[in-house]
Amino acid sequence: MKIAVAGATGAVGRHVVDVVREHGHEAVLLSRAEGVDLVSGAGLDLSGVDAVIDVASTSTQSGEESRAFFGAVTRTLQAAELAAGVGHHVSLGIVGSSDAPYAYYAGKVLQEELVEGGAVPWTILRATQFHEFASQIHGSITAGPFILVPKMVSQPVAAREVAERLVQLAEGAPAGRVPDLAGPRVEHMPRMVRAWARHTGARGPIVTVPAPGPFGKALRDGTLLPKPGADLGTQTYDEWLAGQ
Ligand SMILES: NC(=O)c1ccc[n+]([C@@H]2O[C@H](COP(=O)([O-])OP(=O)(O)OC[C@H]3O[C@@H](n4cnc5c(N)ncnc54)[C@H](OP(=O)(O)O)[C@@H]3O)[C@@H](O)[C@H]2O)c1
Repeated sequence: MKIAVAGATGAVGRHVVDVVREHGHEAVLLSRAEGVDLVSGAGLDLSGVDAVIDVASTSTQSGEESRAFFGAVTRTLQAAELAAGVGHHVSLGIVGSSDAPYAYYAGKVLQEELVEGGAVPWTILRATQFHEFASQIHGSITAGPFILVPKMVSQPVAAREVAERLVQLAEGAPAGRVPDLAGPRVEHMPRMVRAWARHTGARGPIVTVPAPGPFGKALRDGTLLPKPGADLGTQTYDEWLAGQ
């Protein structure tokens, strides 16, 4: 098969590319570093592609920017898929994203709506935070010398295991919404971030803060945890960290 990976250089995208190749398929890498801008469509060529796995992302705290990004990327991909006769669009969402009022999630909700309403047959997998999430949020919010980490419960999953599931789904027929994928254990984000900082030698005092408002409540009250019926990966956060 020929499988295009949107966001091929990202935290999960690089694993998706590895798994695509390990399974004997041809990978088409889509990211700006590969000369393809999925917002404008510049450089995008899906000739001969059988399936697209979309794991592109942006980092923003603005709902408007998030909707603009995920809206543009999804529409750009769908138009190119229709033009090239691609028969399967596989998208990655986030467990709990429609129940937690977070600016970034506004784009994720729009992305799912567009995929579901689009003309290209689709599959949507939702996953919990990746183990890499701890490193992604370390230092993203600071106050003077302090590194702030929100009080948050998560059931993080290895990005490699998410990638394996996404490729398995792309190899099959479009399946609509499939069971969520989470990790094996509930974790507290501040512990994950502290363990990551200790492991990598990252400096700076880490302070746990309750995030304000309804989103802060959703982070603390388990809104982002998998519901019964979710599939669970096997690698724990500590096992993943030991291998970094
Ligand atoms: N991180 C998590 O814990 C988590 C959990 C569940 C689901 N997800 C979902 O998984 C997906 C991937 O997340 P991630 O954390 O792996 O993302 P990431 O590490 O931030 O990677 C983002 C990818 O998107 C590409 N990209 C950004 N803007 C682009 C543009 N204009 N055109 C083409 N490519 C562009 C980036 O490459 P260039 O910079 O080279 O363009 C990069 O390859 C997202 O949909 C996210 O919502 C994430």
